[in-house]
Amino acid sequence: MRYEVRPLTSQDQAAAWKLGSLAFGYHDRPMPEDWNSDSPGRYTLGAFDDSGRLVAKAVDRAQQQWFGGRAVPTSGVAGVAVAPELRGKGLARLVLTRLLGDARDRGAAISTLFPTVPFPYRRLGWEEAGWLTYLALPTSALSGIRPAPGIALRPATEGDMPAIFELYRDVARAGNALMERSGPLWNRTATEILESFDGMTVAVTTDGEVVGYASWERGPGYDSSGKITAYELIGSTHDATSTLLAMFAGWASVAPTAVLRLSTSDPALYEVATSSIRIESQQPWMIRVVDAAAAIAARGWPSHLKGSVDLDLADVECPWNEGRVRLVLDSGQAALEPGGSGEVRMTSRGLGVWYASAASPAVLRRAGFLSGGDAETDSFLMAATAGPAPTLLDYF
Ligand SMILES: CC(C)(COP(=O)(O)OP(=O)(O)OC[C@H]1O[C@@H](n2cnc3c(N)ncnc32)[C@H](O)[C@@H]1OP(=O)(O)O)[C@@H](O)C(=O)NCCC(=O)NCCS
Repeated sequence: MRYEVRPLTSQDQAAAWKLGSLAFGYHDRPMPEDWNSDSPGRYTLGAFDDSGRLVAKAVDRAQQQWFGGRAVPTSGVAGVAVAPELRGKGLARLVLTRLLGDARDRGAAISTLFPTVPFPYRRLGWEEAGWLTYLALPTSALSGIRPAPGIALRPATEGDMPAIFELYRDVARAGNALMERSGPLWNRTATEILESFDGMTVAVTTDGEVVGYASWERGPGYDSSGKITAYELIGSTHDATSTLLAMFAGWASVAPTAVLRLSTSDPALYEVATSSIRIESQQPWMIRVVDAAAAIAARGWPSHLKGSVDLDLADVECPWNEGRVRLVLDSGQAALEPGGSGEVRMTSRGLGVWYASAASPAVLRRAGFLSGGDAETDSFLMAATAGPAPTLLDYF
Protein backbone atom coordinates (compact mmCIF):
# COMPACT_ATOMS: atom_id res chain seq x y z
CA MET A 1 0.00 0.00 0.00
CA ARG A 2 1.26 3.48 -0.86
CA TYR A 3 0.28 6.32 1.43
CA GLU A 4 0.05 9.99 0.60
CA VAL A 5 1.46 12.30 3.26
CA ARG A 6 0.16 15.87 3.12
CA PRO A 7 -1.04 18.74 5.31
CA LEU A 8 -4.65 18.40 6.44
CA THR A 9 -7.33 20.46 4.74
CA SER A 10 -10.63 21.68 6.24
CA GLN A 11 -12.22 18.50 4.80
CA ASP A 12 -9.97 16.31 6.97
CA GLN A 13 -10.73 17.85 10.38
CA ALA A 14 -13.49 15.44 11.42
CA ALA A 15 -11.27 12.45 10.58
CA ALA A 16 -8.39 14.03 12.54
CA TRP A 17 -10.62 14.54 15.59
CA LYS A 18 -11.78 10.93 15.34
CA LEU A 19 -8.27 9.51 15.08
CA GLY A 20 -6.89 11.70 17.87
CA SER A 21 -9.85 11.36 20.27
CA LEU A 22 -9.83 7.59 19.92
CA ALA A 23 -6.07 7.35 20.48
CA PHE A 24 -6.03 9.66 23.51
CA GLY A 25 -9.37 8.65 25.03
CA TYR A 26 -11.66 11.67 24.67
CA HIS A 27 -13.83 10.01 22.03
CA ASP A 28 -16.91 10.35 24.28
CA ARG A 29 -16.84 14.11 23.61
CA PRO A 30 -18.41 15.52 20.46
CA MET A 31 -16.08 17.45 18.20
CA PRO A 32 -16.42 21.17 19.09
CA GLU A 33 -17.97 23.06 16.17
CA ASP A 34 -15.00 25.35 15.65
CA TRP A 35 -12.34 22.67 16.28
CA ASN A 36 -9.41 22.61 13.89
CA SER A 37 -6.21 20.65 14.32
CA ASP A 38 -4.41 23.54 12.59
CA SER A 39 -4.17 27.06 13.93
CA PRO A 40 -1.45 29.70 13.73
CA GLY A 41 1.76 27.92 14.74
CA ARG A 42 0.24 24.40 14.47
CA TYR A 43 0.69 22.35 11.33
CA THR A 44 -0.84 18.89 11.02
CA LEU A 45 0.42 16.28 8.58
CA GLY A 46 -1.72 13.28 7.73
CA ALA A 47 -1.07 9.99 5.95
CA PHE A 48 -3.92 8.87 3.69
CA ASP A 49 -4.48 5.44 2.18
CA ASP A 50 -5.42 5.00 -1.47
CA SER A 51 -9.11 5.36 -0.62
CA GLY A 52 -8.37 8.78 0.92
CA ARG A 53 -8.84 7.61 4.54
CA LEU A 54 -6.73 9.39 7.18
CA VAL A 55 -4.67 6.63 8.84
CA ALA A 56 -1.94 8.57 10.71
CA LYS A 57 -1.23 12.10 11.79
CA ALA A 58 1.25 14.29 13.66
CA VAL A 59 1.35 17.96 14.60
CA ASP A 60 4.37 20.28 14.29
CA ARG A 61 4.14 23.20 16.74
CA ALA A 62 6.23 26.28 15.97
CA GLN A 63 7.67 27.08 19.38
CA GLN A 64 10.95 28.29 20.83
CA GLN A 65 12.99 26.91 23.72
CA TRP A 66 15.86 28.61 25.53
CA PHE A 67 19.36 27.12 25.38
CA GLY A 68 22.44 28.94 26.62
CA GLY A 69 20.60 32.24 26.83
CA ARG A 70 19.13 32.17 23.32
CA ALA A 71 15.68 31.11 22.10
CA VAL A 72 16.06 28.23 19.63
CA PRO A 73 13.38 27.65 16.94
CA THR A 74 11.78 24.32 17.83
CA SER A 75 9.28 21.86 16.41
CA GLY A 76 7.13 20.69 19.30
CA VAL A 77 5.65 17.41 18.14
CA ALA A 78 2.18 16.51 19.41
CA GLY A 79 -0.96 14.55 18.52
CA VAL A 80 0.87 11.59 16.95
CA ALA A 81 -1.65 8.83 16.26
CA VAL A 82 -1.93 5.87 13.92
CA ALA A 83 -5.12 3.92 13.13
CA PRO A 84 -5.25 0.92 15.50
CA GLU A 85 -5.27 -1.71 12.75
CA LEU A 86 -2.20 -0.22 11.06
CA ARG A 87 0.18 0.27 13.96
CA GLY A 88 3.63 -1.28 13.72
CA LYS A 89 3.72 -0.92 9.93
CA GLY A 90 5.88 2.16 9.61
CA LEU A 91 3.20 4.86 9.44
CA ALA A 92 4.54 6.91 12.37
CA ARG A 93 7.97 6.70 10.77
CA LEU A 94 6.52 7.89 7.45
CA VAL A 95 4.68 10.89 8.91
CA LEU A 96 7.37 11.92 11.42
CA THR A 97 10.19 11.70 8.87
CA ARG A 98 8.24 14.04 6.60
CA LEU A 99 7.43 16.27 9.58
CA LEU A 100 11.14 16.64 10.36
CA GLY A 101 11.85 17.77 6.80
CA ASP A 102 8.95 20.23 6.76
CA ALA A 103 9.90 21.57 10.20
CA ARG A 104 13.44 22.19 8.95
CA ASP A 105 12.06 23.98 5.88
CA ARG A 106 10.12 26.39 8.11
CA GLY A 107 13.23 27.06 10.22
CA ALA A 108 13.03 24.67 13.17
CA ALA A 109 16.49 23.72 14.44
CA ILE A 110 15.48 21.16 17.07
CA SER A 111 12.40 19.16 18.04
CA THR A 112 10.94 18.24 21.42
CA LEU A 113 7.98 16.10 22.45
CA PHE A 114 6.29 14.40 25.38
CA PRO A 115 6.10 10.69 24.47
CA THR A 116 3.47 8.25 25.64
CA VAL A 117 6.04 5.61 24.72
CA PRO A 118 9.70 6.41 23.98
CA PHE A 119 10.60 3.54 21.64
CA PRO A 120 9.22 4.74 18.30
CA TYR A 121 10.79 8.17 18.88
CA ARG A 122 14.11 6.63 19.82
CA ARG A 123 14.06 4.69 16.58
CA LEU A 124 13.63 8.04 14.84
CA GLY A 125 16.43 9.85 16.67
CA TRP A 126 14.73 11.55 19.62
CA GLU A 127 15.99 10.85 23.15
CA GLU A 128 14.84 11.70 26.66
CA ALA A 129 16.45 14.81 28.11
CA GLY A 130 14.30 15.76 31.09
CA TRP A 131 11.03 15.50 32.95
CA LEU A 132 8.10 17.73 33.78
CA THR A 133 7.97 17.02 37.47
CA TYR A 134 5.29 17.49 40.11
CA LEU A 135 6.60 17.07 43.65
CA ALA A 136 4.26 16.37 46.58
CA LEU A 137 4.86 16.97 50.27
CA PRO A 138 2.72 17.37 53.38
CA THR A 139 1.53 20.99 53.34
CA SER A 140 2.37 21.17 57.04
CA ALA A 141 6.04 20.54 56.14
CA LEU A 142 6.10 24.08 54.71
CA SER A 143 5.22 25.62 58.08
CA GLY A 144 8.88 26.06 59.05
CA ILE A 145 9.40 28.53 56.20
CA ARG A 146 9.19 32.15 57.37
CA PRO A 147 7.76 34.92 55.19
CA ALA A 148 10.24 37.77 54.71
CA PRO A 149 9.29 41.03 56.46
CA GLY A 150 9.82 43.27 53.42
CA ILE A 151 7.61 41.24 51.07
CA ALA A 152 3.83 41.59 50.71
CA LEU A 153 1.59 39.15 48.87
CA ARG A 154 -1.52 40.06 46.89
CA PRO A 155 -3.61 38.61 44.06
CA ALA A 156 -2.12 39.38 40.64
CA THR A 157 -3.92 41.81 38.37
CA GLU A 158 -3.76 42.15 34.59
CA GLY A 159 -1.28 44.99 35.09
CA ASP A 160 1.15 42.56 36.76
CA MET A 161 1.32 40.24 33.75
CA PRO A 162 4.27 41.94 31.97
CA ALA A 163 6.32 41.68 35.20
CA ILE A 164 5.24 38.05 35.66
CA PHE A 165 6.27 37.22 32.07
CA GLU A 166 9.65 38.87 32.62
CA LEU A 167 10.27 36.94 35.85
CA TYR A 168 9.59 33.70 33.98
CA ARG A 169 11.70 34.77 30.98
CA ASP A 170 14.67 35.63 33.21
CA VAL A 171 14.55 32.07 34.57
CA ALA A 172 14.14 30.61 31.06
CA ARG A 173 17.02 32.65 29.68
CA ALA A 174 19.34 31.43 32.44
CA GLY A 175 18.31 27.79 32.00
CA ASN A 176 18.14 25.18 29.26
CA ALA A 177 15.07 23.96 27.36
CA LEU A 178 12.48 26.23 29.02
CA MET A 179 9.78 27.46 26.68
CA GLU A 180 9.70 30.97 25.26
CA ARG A 181 6.12 31.97 26.02
CA SER A 182 5.47 34.22 23.05
CA GLY A 183 4.48 33.68 19.44
CA PRO A 184 1.34 32.30 17.82
CA LEU A 185 0.90 29.44 20.28
CA TRP A 186 0.86 31.85 23.23
CA ASN A 187 -2.02 34.09 22.30
CA ARG A 188 -4.04 34.10 25.53
CA THR A 189 -4.93 37.44 27.04
CA ALA A 190 -3.86 38.42 30.56
CA THR A 191 -7.46 37.88 31.73
CA GLU A 192 -7.59 34.40 30.22
CA ILE A 193 -4.32 33.47 31.90
CA LEU A 194 -5.46 34.80 35.27
CA GLU A 195 -8.81 33.02 34.95
CA SER A 196 -7.16 29.70 34.10
CA PHE A 197 -5.97 29.33 37.73
CA ASP A 198 -7.80 29.49 41.05
CA GLY A 199 -5.20 31.99 42.11
CA MET A 200 -2.21 33.90 40.86
CA THR A 201 -0.33 35.56 43.72
CA VAL A 202 2.42 38.14 43.38
CA ALA A 203 5.20 38.90 45.87
CA VAL A 204 5.87 42.63 46.01
CA THR A 205 8.62 44.68 47.70
CA THR A 206 7.86 47.77 49.78
CA ASP A 207 8.72 49.78 46.62
CA GLY A 208 5.97 47.96 44.75
CA GLU A 209 8.32 45.88 42.58
CA VAL A 210 6.96 42.44 41.64
CA VAL A 211 9.75 40.02 42.60
CA GLY A 212 7.87 36.74 42.50
CA TYR A 213 4.63 34.99 41.67
CA ALA A 214 2.83 31.71 42.13
CA SER A 215 -0.01 30.32 40.00
CA TRP A 216 -2.04 27.75 41.88
CA GLU A 217 -5.10 25.55 41.95
CA ARG A 218 -7.09 24.38 44.95
CA GLY A 219 -8.24 20.80 44.43
CA PRO A 220 -11.66 19.57 45.63
CA GLY A 221 -12.58 18.70 49.23
CA TYR A 222 -11.06 19.43 52.61
CA ASP A 223 -10.46 15.93 53.95
CA SER A 224 -7.23 13.97 53.75
CA SER A 225 -7.40 14.05 49.94
CA GLY A 226 -7.34 17.87 49.82
CA LYS A 227 -4.59 19.25 47.62
CA ILE A 228 -3.09 22.61 46.74
CA THR A 229 -1.03 22.69 43.55
CA ALA A 230 1.46 25.40 42.63
CA TYR A 231 1.93 25.17 38.87
CA GLU A 232 4.60 27.78 39.01
CA LEU A 233 6.39 29.39 41.91
CA ILE A 234 9.10 31.78 40.81
CA GLY A 235 10.92 34.28 42.98
CA SER A 236 13.79 36.40 41.75
CA THR A 237 15.04 36.68 45.35
CA HIS A 238 15.24 34.40 48.34
CA ASP A 239 12.72 36.59 50.18
CA ALA A 240 10.17 36.31 47.38
CA THR A 241 10.53 32.51 47.10
CA SER A 242 10.28 31.88 50.83
CA THR A 243 7.30 34.24 51.29
CA LEU A 244 5.40 32.53 48.47
CA LEU A 245 6.20 29.07 49.85
CA ALA A 246 5.13 30.17 53.32
CA MET A 247 1.73 31.21 51.93
CA PHE A 248 1.07 27.62 50.88
CA ALA A 249 1.63 26.44 54.47
CA GLY A 250 -1.60 28.27 55.32
CA TRP A 251 -3.54 25.61 53.37
CA ALA A 252 -2.46 22.75 55.68
CA SER A 253 -5.80 22.43 57.53
CA VAL A 254 -7.90 21.92 54.38
CA ALA A 255 -5.40 20.75 51.78
CA PRO A 256 -2.97 18.40 53.56
CA THR A 257 -0.94 17.77 50.39
CA ALA A 258 0.99 20.49 48.57
CA VAL A 259 2.08 19.77 45.02
CA LEU A 260 4.82 21.90 43.49
CA ARG A 261 5.72 21.89 39.82
CA LEU A 262 9.34 22.94 39.97
CA SER A 263 12.26 23.08 37.58
CA THR A 264 15.01 20.48 37.97
CA SER A 265 17.33 22.82 39.84
CA ASP A 266 14.97 25.18 41.63
CA PRO A 267 15.79 27.54 44.51
CA ALA A 268 12.53 26.49 46.22
CA LEU A 269 14.23 23.12 46.85
CA TYR A 270 16.68 24.90 49.16
CA GLU A 271 13.76 26.05 51.33
CA VAL A 272 11.62 22.94 51.74
CA ALA A 273 12.33 19.79 53.73
CA THR A 274 13.33 17.68 50.75
CA SER A 275 13.20 14.53 52.89
CA SER A 276 9.37 14.96 52.97
CA ILE A 277 9.10 15.11 49.19
CA ARG A 278 7.83 12.36 46.93
CA ILE A 279 7.35 12.51 43.19
CA GLU A 280 3.67 13.03 42.40
CA SER A 281 4.21 12.62 38.66
CA GLN A 282 7.04 12.83 36.20
CA GLN A 283 6.46 13.18 32.48
CA PRO A 284 9.60 12.62 30.40
CA TRP A 285 10.23 14.76 27.34
CA MET A 286 12.52 14.06 24.43
CA ILE A 287 14.73 16.12 22.14
CA ARG A 288 16.06 15.71 18.63
CA VAL A 289 18.28 17.93 16.54
CA VAL A 290 16.40 18.71 13.31
CA ASP A 291 19.06 20.79 11.56
CA ALA A 292 22.48 20.35 13.16
CA ALA A 293 24.12 23.43 11.61
CA ALA A 294 21.14 25.66 12.46
CA ALA A 295 20.85 24.24 15.99
CA ILE A 296 24.54 24.79 16.76
CA ALA A 297 24.35 28.36 15.45
CA ALA A 298 21.12 29.11 17.32
CA ARG A 299 21.94 28.29 20.93
CA GLY A 300 24.26 30.20 23.24
CA TRP A 301 27.63 28.77 24.34
CA PRO A 302 30.05 29.46 27.19
CA SER A 303 31.72 32.75 26.31
CA HIS A 304 35.07 31.71 27.84
CA LEU A 305 35.40 28.52 25.75
CA LYS A 306 37.35 28.60 22.48
CA GLY A 307 38.31 25.64 20.34
CA SER A 308 37.05 22.98 17.97
CA VAL A 309 36.32 19.30 17.69
CA ASP A 310 35.82 17.15 14.60
CA LEU A 311 32.53 15.25 14.54
CA ASP A 312 31.07 12.54 12.37
CA LEU A 313 27.28 12.65 12.68
CA ALA A 314 25.02 9.69 11.93
CA ASP A 315 21.41 10.55 11.12
CA VAL A 316 19.34 8.34 8.81
CA GLU A 317 16.06 10.27 9.22
CA CYS A 318 17.63 13.70 8.69
CA PRO A 319 20.35 12.91 6.11
CA TRP A 320 21.27 16.60 5.73
CA ASN A 321 22.90 16.28 9.18
CA GLU A 322 25.03 13.29 8.27
CA GLY A 323 28.77 13.29 7.80
CA ARG A 324 31.92 15.05 8.93
CA VAL A 325 31.71 18.49 10.41
CA ARG A 326 33.94 20.64 12.59
CA LEU A 327 32.34 22.22 15.66
CA VAL A 328 34.03 25.59 16.19
CA LEU A 329 33.39 27.63 19.35
CA ASP A 330 34.48 31.17 20.01
CA SER A 331 33.18 34.05 22.15
CA GLY A 332 29.85 32.44 22.99
CA GLN A 333 29.05 31.56 19.34
CA ALA A 334 29.45 28.25 17.55
CA ALA A 335 29.30 26.95 14.00
CA LEU A 336 29.40 23.61 12.25
CA GLU A 337 31.80 23.78 9.34
CA PRO A 338 31.80 21.00 6.71
CA GLY A 339 34.77 18.63 6.74
CA GLY A 340 37.29 17.65 9.38
CA SER A 341 38.62 14.24 10.41
CA GLY A 342 35.34 12.91 11.90
CA GLU A 343 37.27 11.94 15.04
CA VAL A 344 34.22 11.89 17.37
CA ARG A 345 31.25 9.90 16.14
CA MET A 346 27.81 10.81 17.46
CA THR A 347 24.38 9.36 16.80
CA SER A 348 21.35 11.62 16.46
CA ARG A 349 20.17 10.60 19.94
CA GLY A 350 23.59 11.47 21.33
CA LEU A 351 23.69 14.82 19.56
CA GLY A 352 20.30 15.80 21.03
CA VAL A 353 21.17 14.76 24.58
CA TRP A 354 24.55 16.53 24.41
CA TYR A 355 23.01 19.66 22.87
CA ALA A 356 20.44 19.81 25.67
CA SER A 357 23.11 19.61 28.41
CA ALA A 358 21.38 16.42 29.58
CA ALA A 359 24.39 14.10 29.87
CA SER A 360 28.18 14.15 29.88
CA PRO A 361 30.27 12.65 27.05
CA ALA A 362 31.20 9.81 29.44
CA VAL A 363 27.52 8.88 29.81
CA LEU A 364 26.90 9.25 26.07
CA ARG A 365 29.84 6.91 25.44
CA ARG A 366 28.44 4.28 27.79
CA ALA A 367 25.00 4.65 26.17
CA GLY A 368 26.51 3.92 22.75
CA PHE A 369 25.70 7.46 21.51
CA LEU A 370 29.32 8.66 21.20
CA SER A 371 32.54 6.95 20.15
CA GLY A 372 36.02 7.89 19.04
CA GLY A 373 37.89 10.91 20.31
CA ASP A 374 39.78 10.96 23.58
CA ALA A 375 39.86 12.61 27.00
CA GLU A 376 40.61 15.98 25.37
CA THR A 377 37.61 15.92 23.04
CA ASP A 378 35.38 14.64 25.86
CA SER A 379 36.53 17.48 28.08
CA PHE A 380 35.83 20.07 25.36
CA LEU A 381 32.37 18.66 24.61
CA MET A 382 31.65 18.46 28.34
CA ALA A 383 32.52 22.12 28.88
CA ALA A 384 30.54 23.24 25.84
CA THR A 385 27.18 22.00 27.19
CA ALA A 386 28.00 21.55 30.86
CA GLY A 387 24.63 22.80 32.09
CA PRO A 388 22.34 23.84 33.61
CA ALA A 389 20.34 20.60 33.46
CA PRO A 390 17.50 20.96 30.93
CA THR A 391 14.05 21.53 32.35
CA LEU A 392 10.54 22.43 31.20
CA LEU A 393 7.60 23.99 33.03
CA ASP A 394 5.10 23.51 30.20
CA TYR A 395 3.33 20.46 28.84
CA PHE A 396 2.29 20.36 25.20
C1 LIG B 1 2.90 5.18 19.06
C2 LIG B 1 2.40 5.06 17.63
C3 LIG B 1 2.15 6.47 17.11
C4 LIG B 1 3.49 4.40 16.80
O1 LIG B 1 3.06 4.36 15.45
P1 LIG B 1 3.41 3.13 14.48
O2 LIG B 1 2.93 3.45 13.12
O3 LIG B 1 2.95 1.89 15.11
O4 LIG B 1 5.00 3.18 14.51
P2 LIG B 1 5.96 2.66 13.35
O5 LIG B 1 5.44 1.34 12.83
O6 LIG B 1 6.17 3.72 12.33
O7 LIG B 1 7.28 2.42 14.14
C5 LIG B 1 8.41 3.29 14.06
C6 LIG B 1 9.55 2.58 14.72
O8 LIG B 1 9.30 2.49 16.14
C7 LIG B 1 9.25 1.13 16.55
N1 LIG B 1 8.10 1.03 17.47
C8 LIG B 1 6.86 1.47 17.26
N2 LIG B 1 6.09 1.24 18.34
C9 LIG B 1 6.90 0.63 19.24
C10 LIG B 1 6.71 0.15 20.55
N3 LIG B 1 5.54 0.27 21.19
N4 LIG B 1 7.77 -0.44 21.18
C11 LIG B 1 8.97 -0.54 20.58
N5 LIG B 1 9.21 -0.07 19.33
C12 LIG B 1 8.19 0.49 18.67
C13 LIG B 1 9.04 0.32 15.31
O9 LIG B 1 9.59 -0.95 15.43
C14 LIG B 1 9.70 1.17 14.26
O10 LIG B 1 11.08 0.93 14.25
P3 LIG B 1 11.86 0.76 12.84
O11 LIG B 1 11.20 1.69 11.86
O12 LIG B 1 13.26 1.18 13.13
O13 LIG B 1 11.71 -0.66 12.48
C15 LIG B 1 1.10 4.21 17.53
O14 LIG B 1 1.34 2.98 18.17
C16 LIG B 1 -0.12 4.86 18.15
O15 LIG B 1 -0.86 5.57 17.48
N6 LIG B 1 -0.34 4.61 19.46
C17 LIG B 1 -1.46 5.19 20.19
C18 LIG B 1 -1.35 6.70 20.36
C19 LIG B 1 0.00 7.11 20.92
O16 LIG B 1 0.51 6.56 21.89
N7 LIG B 1 0.60 8.12 20.27
C20 LIG B 1 1.91 8.65 20.66
C21 LIG B 1 1.73 9.91 21.39
S1 LIG B 1 3.26 10.55 21.97
